[in-house]
Amino acid sequence: MTAIKDSVVLVTGGSRGIGKALVDELFRRGAAKVYATARDPRTVTHPDAVPLKLEVTDEDSVADVAARATDVTILINNAGAAAGASYLDSPLDEVRRDLDTNFYGPLLVTRAFVPVIERNGGGHLLNVHSALSWLADGGPYSASKAALWSQTNSLRLQLRPRGIVVTGLHVAYVDTDMTAKIDAPKSAAVDVAAAALDGVETDAFEVLADDVSRGVKSALSGDITLLYPQLAA
Ligand SMILES: NC(=O)c1ccc[n+]([C@@H]2O[C@H](COP(=O)([O-])OP(=O)(O)OC[C@H]3O[C@@H](n4cnc5c(N)ncnc54)[C@H](OP(=O)(O)O)[C@@H]3O)[C@@H](O)[C@H]2O)c1
Repeated sequence: MTAIKDSVVLVTGGSRGIGKALVDELFRRGAAKVYATARDPRTVTHPDAVPLKLEVTDEDSVADVAARATDVTILINNAGAAAGASYLDSPLDEVRRDLDTNFYGPLLVTRAFVPVIERNGGGHLLNVHSALSWLADGGPYSASKAALWSQTNSLRLQLRPRGIVVTGLHVAYVDTDMTAKIDAPKSAAVDVAAAALDGVETDAFEVLADDVSRGVKSALSGDITLLYPQLAA
């Protein structure tokens, strides 16, 4: 089992939202050191966190962080974004942006940190997916999270024999900046962080942090109109 107590953790996007809640909860559970990344490291406010500047889509930035955080044993790929592009009407570069941030970003960070975690005796990778990995919401964000889910499933197989356990987190709306304009029931980031870290500490392959995620996953095995009732009309 993965112990958070006395571990050294890096949380991407650790200055706000779910990432900030993860940083708080990691310290509550006794982590020895927590690196919290942000594009502007001055926005990292936890007094004990080690702020690092990171742009996940920039290979040089990722390499710089991996060169500084050489004692990491647990990597949390939390940073993500929803650019809100339209498949049919937005410039293709805008459509690609969610893939760059949410699929290639975590991949770059994982590639940089796998050798670090191995050198430190093995550890854990937590990737933050979404309920929208399994339910298309009309734009590229869902595609990026579906692709990340698949990436996680492949990496879990490849990293297991290398001493790195991989957990994927699925959650629907959480009350953060990302959903500020959405009027719908939302989980609290603190509850999502606790569920995610329970999953890390029990070496769970998957954490489904709310009823919506559990419902969407179970509906995948049924008729497609269960997920897209507008098709039944
Ligand atoms: N909120 C939800 O309803 C929800 C539901 C399911 C999954 N998620 C996922 O949960 C994760 C955290 O989201 P959140 O709700 O906490 O959103 P948020 O409050 O908008 O925070 C997003 C975080 O990601 C970082 N980030 C975004 N683009 C980045 C980039 N290119 N390079 C480096 N860091 C970047 C941001 O860093 P800066 O501070 O530098 O901007 C920020 O810390 C994301 O992966 C999101 O897709 C969220």
